[in-house]
Amino acid sequence: MGTIKDQLILNVLKEEQTPHNKITVVGVGAVGMACAISVLMKDLADELALVDVIEDKLKGEMMDLQHGSLFLKTTKIISSKDYAVTANSKLVVITAGACQQEGESRLNLVQCNVNIFKFIIPNIVKYSPNCKLLVVSNPVDILTYVPWKLSGFPKNHVIGSGCNLDSARFPYLMGEKLSIHSSSCHGWILGEHGDSSVPVWSGMNVAGVSLKSLHPALGTDSDSEKQK
Ligand SMILES: NC(=O)c1ccc[n+]([C@@H]2O[C@H](COP(=O)([O-])OP(=O)(O)OC[C@H]3O[C@@H](n4cnc5c(N)ncnc54)[C@H](O)[C@@H]3O)[C@@H](O)[C@H]2O)c1
Repeated sequence: MGTIKDQLILNVLKEEQTPHNKITVVGVGAVGMACAISVLMKDLADELALVDVIEDKLKGEMMDLQHGSLFLKTTKIISSKDYAVTANSKLVVITAGACQQEGESRLNLVQCNVNIFKFIIPNIVKYSPNCKLLVVSNPVDILTYVPWKLSGFPKNHVIGSGCNLDSARFPYLMGEKLSIHSSSCHGWILGEHGDSSVPVWSGMNVAGVSLKSLHPALGTDSDSEKQK
């Protein structure tokens, strides 16, 4: 006599299958959980794994996501301190690390987070040698270079979030100013993500109309509104 499940279901496939689109998020702080929830809500993965060093927090975050399963299509949400849980990931999002304190520059975080990465990256590579890495931890541009070197992955397998966030904030602020939805506002922040990044004022446009042609002082010291 089998289990009730055995009596209810005739398996035509093996139970344990290798996931096709597994995503791992390392670090379940504010950023890691925002990534995890985005992955789930956009239905990007058939399996989601979470890793952190704080076990009770990790378990709690995993349970919160699992308890939302009714509203999700991702069938398997798992977590552990042990990197075996990340095996066969297609994408690993790295948000682990020490967080910036008030007044601290992103560059100050570097040595602390490099040391953390020296543990994380070899473990990821061990269990998912063909994955792609997406780095969010700060200082993000340096911490994208470091895992590229530590992993030995080809360069197109290691991606940093760069100025993506800044380049989303810029059109939002422009849209607020102009009372136009940010999806019609276009502009980029370039350079290293951090204090030295540069807004490209000359490239800003609203639905193709250059803002510089409408407001030549924009982004300069002579701008009475001090948008710079
Ligand atoms: N690139 C960007 O645009 C951007 C934006 C916001 C934040 N960040 C960066 O993202 C990172 C995370 O920010 P947050 O607000 O989520 O911080 P947080 O402090 O809330 O979370 C960090 C998590 O990392 C975990 N952690 C620490 N060491 C670890 C290790 N060795 N292995 C696994 N997990 C470990 C901590 O336990 C914690 O849960 C920071 O470095 C922050 O500066 C980047």
